[in-house]
Amino acid sequence: ASPDPTELLEIALEAARRAGALLRDGRPADLGVAATKSSPIDVVTEMDIAAEKLITSYIGGQRPGDGFLGEEGASSEGTSGVRWVIDPLDGTVNYLYGLPGWAVSIAAEYEGRVLAGVVEAPMRRETYQAVLGGGAFVNGTPARCRPAAEFSHALIGTGFGYLAERRVAQAEVVRALVPRVRDIRRAGAAAIDLADVGCGRLDGYFERGLHPWDMAAGALFAREAGALTGGRPGEPASGELTIAAPPGLFEPLQELLEGLGAWHD
Ligand code: IPD
Repeated sequence: ASPDPTELLEIALEAARRAGALLRDGRPADLGVAATKSSPIDVVTEMDIAAEKLITSYIGGQRPGDGFLGEEGASSEGTSGVRWVIDPLDGTVNYLYGLPGWAVSIAAEYEGRVLAGVVEAPMRRETYQAVLGGGAFVNGTPARCRPAAEFSHALIGTGFGYLAERRVAQAEVVRALVPRVRDIRRAGAAAIDLADVGCGRLDGYFERGLHPWDMAAGALFAREAGALTGGRPGEPASGELTIAAPPGLFEPLQELLEGLGAWHD
């Protein structure tokens, strides 16, 4: 039987709340500035792994038959047809530096469709949640993306991958885009960027090279808030290219990115 999206959402909310609290309360105050026992990066990696373990064991306790795909390596098929797509810590560099833009991202998909998603951003004191067909909510209040802006008035979020060559290509795209739009933001967490499109805090967002766990929950939230998501023309959002924007802005943004060859090679 197909699962109840609201039940999946409740489980995701609790898992995300617990992992968010672990990351917030467990972050050494001097991380990134003072010498810790191990390197700051190791500390972040340990926290990241601990958060993923917490999430998979909580969800596994509630729904033993489900599968997992997690940034920190969780990978199992399960037997129920439900798979949880998890980024225990999106915005790792923000977390390392003590910037507030980091989040826990948890999505539940069934037969390849995301049914429920939660992006928990503890330092923003915000939880973004959505179920398929049930709307998007931020801290319980309905979220709505902005009406389509004129391209020249659009505030567009983006992000960069970790590989130098890809960054060169991404910089070329930004170079072409920045004179044509109001401005560009690189906030540092794809899940929050997508949530910000859904909350009307960005007009649009795009990035190449995202992983499923970076986008699954945030993209559902953006869609349920009225945005379109996709990749290259006619294709869904993927690691090649992810775009989120309201109808009317989505199309010109997609066309421009296609023209610039802004997809991952
Ligand atoms: C990264 C962030 C960043 C985006 C990168 C992602 P991580 O995820 O979402 O904003 O530009 O593409 O890999 O590594 O912090 O989980």
